[in-house]
Amino acid sequence: MKKIIAVDGPAGAGKSTVSKIVAARLGYTYIDTGAMYRAVALKVLQSGKSAEDVTENIDIKLDEAARIFLEGREVTKEIRTPEVSRGASEVAKFGFVRKKLTELQRAMAARGSVIMDGRDIGTQVLPNADLKIFLTATVEERARRRFLELKEKNLAADFEQIKKEIILRDKQDTEREIAPLAQAEDAILLDSTNLTIEEVVDKILELAE
Ligand code: CDP
Repeated sequence: MKKIIAVDGPAGAGKSTVSKIVAARLGYTYIDTGAMYRAVALKVLQSGKSAEDVTENIDIKLDEAARIFLEGREVTKEIRTPEVSRGASEVAKFGFVRKKLTELQRAMAARGSVIMDGRDIGTQVLPNADLKIFLTATVEERARRRFLELKEKNLAADFEQIKKEIILRDKQDTEREIAPLAQAEDAILLDSTNLTIEEVVDKILELAE
């Protein structure tokens, strides 16, 4: 059984949804690294301080239920707004932010039996992961999923706007200089455009075994 699983891919490909289910099935810990970049962005937005000031002694914790705590306060819901999504992609460009979060992520993965999702897990954070998945889907499909997700939570959602923001974030994440979004050489490409959540989960479980 593969003990360390890395899942990377663009915004809205379904990484966190499927990773959470795979973690539950295998009894693994799920680590959402995007939530950590979101927490840094939230702190910048709320404090008005620079990303550098905020990162220095930031306190970010994830619990077993994938809830996220910033300076001891739960921010699981607060980090899901479009404003924080944009902010996350902005702070993710800085080397000092990436260094700090990468250290935290490696420490969290050290015990093994983890599935970690993000943009640079297979390439930078856990290059020795036992299984690497690169999960994609077309922009249309990813925007549709994000749209439905916001609707379900009764949050304001405009499909064209969501699509524009996803395209922009993909571009920023792919083109940044440090640890850009990329498929690791030894990652398995999984296109989820025409697959159900259950089908993607099954595929990953099969590969994990
Ligand atoms: O859920 P969604 O795919 O929309 O995004 P996320 O995984 O929560 O990540 C939010 C942002 O954090 C991304 O757009 C990236 O800019 C950044 N990120 C990163 O740079 N590296 C990671 N390992 C995870 C996220």
